[in-house]
Amino acid sequence: MKVSVKVPATTANLGPGFDCLGLALPIYNEITVEETVMPGSGIEINILEDNESFDVMSIPKDENNIAYKAIELLYNFIGQTVSDIKITIKTNIPVTRGLGSSASVIVGGLLAANKLLGNPADEAVLLSIASEVEGHPDNVTPAMFGGFCISSLESDGSVIYSKLDWPLDWKITVLIPDYELDTIIARSVLPENISISDAAFNVRKCAMLIDAVYKKDAELMKKSLKDRIHQPYREKLIKGFRELNEFFEDKEDIIGCVVSGAGPAILVISQNDGFEKVKDDVNIILNDLNVNCDIKTLSIENEGSKII
Ligand code: HSE
Repeated sequence: MKVSVKVPATTANLGPGFDCLGLALPIYNEITVEETVMPGSGIEINILEDNESFDVMSIPKDENNIAYKAIELLYNFIGQTVSDIKITIKTNIPVTRGLGSSASVIVGGLLAANKLLGNPADEAVLLSIASEVEGHPDNVTPAMFGGFCISSLESDGSVIYSKLDWPLDWKITVLIPDYELDTIIARSVLPENISISDAAFNVRKCAMLIDAVYKKDAELMKKSLKDRIHQPYREKLIKGFRELNEFFEDKEDIIGCVVSGAGPAILVISQNDGFEKVKDDVNIILNDLNVNCDIKTLSIENEGSKII
């Protein structure tokens, strides 16, 4: 028996919501888990590229693979050990770009293995394991449930989350550069401590952001998409972010410009027909800086992961 799961890409943080806010996007990986026919054959992990431009060579094909690690924790949860298993990851989400490719394989592996095992774990357990493997819940939560999610990893390892309707008119333009940025590096540049004034700044922006989404208030959203916890430190690793952020600050129908997750992808959030000009503007700015990127305007993925 084998089970396949289709899992969306995600973008985390959305400016002030570091390790807390996330949004699912309609780009998908497909993860298949099956029991291998020959007992004793061990672990087999295959990576199939849907998009040849991504360097998937760096994805581990042994016990260090994160889908495998998540599946192993699920087996431990039910008091078993993983023996013979085959995991196939069909990748379409760009890797190490800040678009939740790791979250998607963790969630896909877990949901597929759980179904293979007869669904022993409920949603809360799966989300908790996924967050443990990923280290934070902001990508795995929308990868699982779709839409715009607020999530909190609690000290006991459980995850509390809420899902809010994202305004249909707010489009996301994703700028995916042709270089990678490992999340470990992007987290290593963050300071261990921040000032009380920066913390207070993010608390109020993040609180306003939730209200802006709830009220579908683009003006309030524009004022909320500001951050002092991670973007100022990561800016040096993300080519063109400062320039784009300054350029889009006062443009009509542009709601904001933020780093996607840990980067290096960048999001431009717009309303009405604002997205139509984004591509040309971005191309002009990034060409001057010699940065190549793929630009996609997307709606929100509201369904989350699906067993197919
Ligand atoms: N919240 C995480 C970060 C997302 O910014 O490091 C990375 O996957």
